[in-house]
Amino acid sequence: MQEAVLNNILTRRSIRKFQSKPVPLEILEKIVEAGLYAPSARNSQPWHFTVVAGLDRVARITAELKAAVARMPDNPYRAVVGSAAYTVNYANAPVFILVSAAPDSSPVVAADCSLALGTMFLAAHALGIGSCWINQLGSACGEPGFRAFLTQLGVPEKTTFTVAGPSALPRAILPPLLPASPEALTM
Ligand SMILES: Cc1cc2nc3c(=O)[nH]c(=O)nc-3n(C[C@H](O)[C@H](O)[C@H](O)COP(=O)(O)O)c2cc1C
Repeated sequence: MQEAVLNNILTRRSIRKFQSKPVPLEILEKIVEAGLYAPSARNSQPWHFTVVAGLDRVARITAELKAAVARMPDNPYRAVVGSAAYTVNYANAPVFILVSAAPDSSPVVAADCSLALGTMFLAAHALGIGSCWINQLGSACGEPGFRAFLTQLGVPEKTTFTVAGPSALPRAILPPLLPASPEALTM
């Protein structure tokens, strides 16, 4: 059991190509349940998870994000979000999980939400589902048009910090493991 848990941690990879089959609801429920059990500063649990399932709905997110970024001259992701590679990477994911929180709901809200997402990535991997963090959504969640769209999706109004990870069945062959940086460890 311990070996299996450690192996799950060591073999998780960010997945950017997906099968188009839907992720079964019971699997999605297990993934978000794992996220709800993530640790958080002072047990603030500041997050809200919005699960957006369906190829059409996910494609709409990427289209709305692209349009929002085009309206934001200073957005740091203009080149990335406008590129074909961006669309290829994420538009075919059958599920996005948006993690949002009110900025003042925890002393370290970004850390809390990040850990929840990381926990869901590991749970997803254990259940045979690939996932990847998408940073670009967070950069546009204050843009009025995109914010209105997030509200339509069910992302609570008061939340402004948003991170997102698409989850989906991974491609058949996982990318090779990346070596961990040797400078990151002293023992
Ligand atoms: C805070 C954070 C932001 C990230 N943003 C993106 C992103 O916007 N797009 C993307 O494709 N991957 C993103 N990633 C995934 C990293 O590129 C990936 O974790 C890293 O290259 C290591 O690869 P691995 O996850 O397969 O081990 C992000 C990861 C983190 C932790």
